[in-house]
Amino acid sequence: MKRVGIYGGSFAPPHKGHLKSALSFYDECALDELYILPAGEPPHKTLQGNAGPEERFFMTELTFSKENCGARRIFVSDYELKKAGKSYSFETAEHFAAPGTELFLAVGSDMFLSFESWKHPEILLRLCTLVLNRREKDLPEQTFKEQKRRLEDLYGARILLSDFVPFRASSTEIRELLKNGEDPSALLCPAVYDYIKSRNLFFFQEGQLAKIEEYLRNALSAKRFAHVQSVRRELEKMLSFFDLPAGEAFILQKAALLHDLTHEKTLEEQKELAKDLRLFLSKEDLLSPAILHQYTGAALAEKLFSLEPSGVSAIACHTTGKENMTIGEMLLCLADYIEETRPYPSCRKLHDLFYKDIEENPVEHLEFCMLLYLREVVENLRKKGNRIHPLTLSALNFYEKKLGSL
Ligand SMILES: [Fe+2]
Ligand SMILES: [Fe+2]
Repeated sequence: MKRVGIYGGSFAPPHKGHLKSALSFYDECALDELYILPAGEPPHKTLQGNAGPEERFFMTELTFSKENCGARRIFVSDYELKKAGKSYSFETAEHFAAPGTELFLAVGSDMFLSFESWKHPEILLRLCTLVLNRREKDLPEQTFKEQKRRLEDLYGARILLSDFVPFRASSTEIRELLKNGEDPSALLCPAVYDYIKSRNLFFFQEGQLAKIEEYLRNALSAKRFAHVQSVRRELEKMLSFFDLPAGEAFILQKAALLHDLTHEKTLEEQKELAKDLRLFLSKEDLLSPAILHQYTGAALAEKLFSLEPSGVSAIACHTTGKENMTIGEMLLCLADYIEETRPYPSCRKLHDLFYKDIEENPVEHLEFCMLLYLREVVENLRKKGNRIHPLTLSALNFYEKKLGSL
């Protein structure tokens, strides 16, 4: 007889607990084949989070990879996903039942105890040996033994109360961690976590942004906090006119929140922080104390929040500008200037101009607005008799040359 196992679940997302228990199910029951079945529309659960069926299937394949399963014959099946309507276990069992095959069905403790509310338990018990996959240790052994005896007496059931290798993890807990910007990497296979991040599943990005906001709420004054939130909102609006990859747009939103991370520090604190972060500040930098926070802020954002290089570089020039800026760098610089809490007429004017003509040729228009911004900054600094940082001057020259005739 070929020994075939069935292991179903929502897999939203699949985690190391699923992997460990499925592997011990395979080994303890000496299975020849094991089918992992992501549920289409589970009759007992409402799916939560924002992962679609294909995404759950793909993550399940990543979890039950050859690398993770070794020589075992473990397959991820799309049978329940493809099936129209609700997935009932008795139908799945009928699908896999065949002459010469002995079926084993892994069931979790909650499902085991509510077994009789399943559709056609008698068919299921005729076709399969139930193998209890007890993830939670909180119910007394006696409860399971009683249910086992009951089902054996009533249905002639074959039941194994096997204790699979316990690994405390639950999809609900992982979704909660992701939503709160916490790190669930100890509970997930690395490839699955990378996939969740790249597809922004289970509100990963929202969680990360909320976590940064929570930090900033305590680290900044109320006014500065309102400003950085407003910069993020402005940048999000501006991004809608550009075709940046979703991952890049997310990095810029983090950069928008973090861009003034060190703005409220004194000159002495800036110098101290630069030393701690091993940042070199030139003589020119030190002569323009107001711009120092772009360097210390960029380095601190990288250190505290692992901000990616494109976000770090956008923060590192958000005050001075520089030659030949990327779209992201220009967007952050301008969002900082035109966001809605800034009352100054020049800011409002540039805000309106940005949105007025953005649609025709967004990149060229963005560069043009950058030029206007740089002209404004230089003029203001001159009026006040303040020093102009060389980066700002070279940026102005660069964009004058490129677009000056416009
Ligand atoms: Fe700033
Ligand atoms: Fe700012």
